[in-house]
Amino acid sequence: MTDKKICAVLLAAGNGSRMKSDVKKQFIEINELPLFCYSAKVLSQIDEIDRIILVTSTSDIAYVREVIKRHNIQKIYDVVPGGDRRQDSVKNAVDTIPEYYEHVLIHDSARPFVKKEDILNVIRNGVEFNCSFLGVKVKDTIKSIDEKGFVTSTPDRDFLVSVQTPQVVKLDVIKKGLEQFHDKTFTDDAGVMEAMGVKTKITFGSYSNIKITTPDDLKYLKDLI
Ligand code: CTP
Ligand code: MG
Repeated sequence: MTDKKICAVLLAAGNGSRMKSDVKKQFIEINELPLFCYSAKVLSQIDEIDRIILVTSTSDIAYVREVIKRHNIQKIYDVVPGGDRRQDSVKNAVDTIPEYYEHVLIHDSARPFVKKEDILNVIRNGVEFNCSFLGVKVKDTIKSIDEKGFVTSTPDRDFLVSVQTPQVVKLDVIKKGLEQFHDKTFTDDAGVMEAMGVKTKITFGSYSNIKITTPDDLKYLKDLI
């Protein structure tokens, strides 16, 4: 592991449109604690992480600041405004991180079940390989289809993984990549690194690290502690 500390970015600037809830999904309260606080707390317990930048919509910044103060969540260094796309939110955060930090860990606050042990593993690989992300092997067969629903290919499942966060990336490369490939839309941070020619590597994590996305997923929240 590196001697240098890692800066974490916790994303909570989405609209949660697929959840269709009154309150944005990252602010749904479970045991009187808004969802985003669960992963914030786990990140704050990792010794290798010494600061966390929280990203949220401008109109939610005051609320988020108040929540982290009230619940005494540690290591939140700043709360910065998000952007239209996930990658714009990432960009707003990484652009505030000083060059001193070599690596940044990026996490979706919509994944509240992330485990400390998996975070430590992805940090170790991210530092060694310049980019690593948590993921798991797919259990279903995956097919590519065309617009009409006809199958175009069935890739070998043994070589398919489902990608999660956290993702650990080299700070200078992600900054450059987000700038250089601004017009391309990415669904994860490793994708930006791949566009920059970096070989990215999976860190096998846990199936429990799900992303709360649709109303169906709300049933899992009762397991949060
Ligand atoms: N996110 C963000 N800024 C955006 C879009 C997404 O910070 N402009 C964050 C979300 O808050 C979430 C994570 O990125 O924690 C993963 O995104 P997703 O699950 O797609 O959340 P939403 O974009 O909020 O949901 P939806 O796509 O259903 O609108
Ligand atoms: Mg989204």
